Amino acid sequence: MAGTKSPEDAYTAAPFVPEGADLGALREAAAGCHGCPLHRGTTQTVFGAGDPDARVVLVGEQPGDQEDRQGKPFVGPAGKVLDRALDEAGIDPDETYITNAVKHFKFTHVPERGKRRIHKPPSLRELSACGPWLEAELELIEPEVVVALGATAGKALLGSSFRVTKERGTRLEGDPSGPARGALIVPTIHPSAVLRADDREAVYEGLVADLRVAAEALG
Ligand code: URA
Repeated sequence: MAGTKSPEDAYTAAPFVPEGADLGALREAAAGCHGCPLHRGTTQTVFGAGDPDARVVLVGEQPGDQEDRQGKPFVGPAGKVLDRALDEAGIDPDETYITNAVKHFKFTHVPERGKRRIHKPPSLRELSACGPWLEAELELIEPEVVVALGATAGKALLGSSFRVTKERGTRLEGDPSGPARGALIVPTIHPSAVLRADDREAVYEGLVADLRVAAEALG
């Protein structure tokens, strides 16, 4: 019914984010986040990791199966593609901080795939519920460049009208009231798109070209 509030409207991580916390304290607090239902059925919260003084922060969509089990972002197949592409673009993966727009693994089961957990994209409400964690991470790190890996990260950083096909490989200014304020945002495809592509080499080269835009912005 028009005007009726759904329970999803109340989803937000905000009450779980401690004020004045450093990254370590944020990570500890995020472990107990129940700001939306995505924590149910997962192994753990997967918080960001990497160099707290990084000049570049990479933002993905959400942890996958491997990340959920290991508690670290981008440790599965997409992470391997990303590390190789970063290196080729001239960005040292060890000098980056990497995180996700959503900190829990959202999945479903399909009968023909047995017990396997199948990735399901987060809804816009789940994305915005998790926003306070990303905002707090970016506020502490103050990167010069934020790389949005795929459409979900782009929407988290630039709003729901963001389209990765249109804006990838460009330098965009973060909205002054958005989570990446003060930083340049360079959107690109999600590295898992390389793994799904028929022409993996061409899609991978496109990812590297976009990451070079971020490398050039760093100077
Ligand atoms: N895909 C993501 O967006 N993030 C991860 O951490 C892993 C895969």
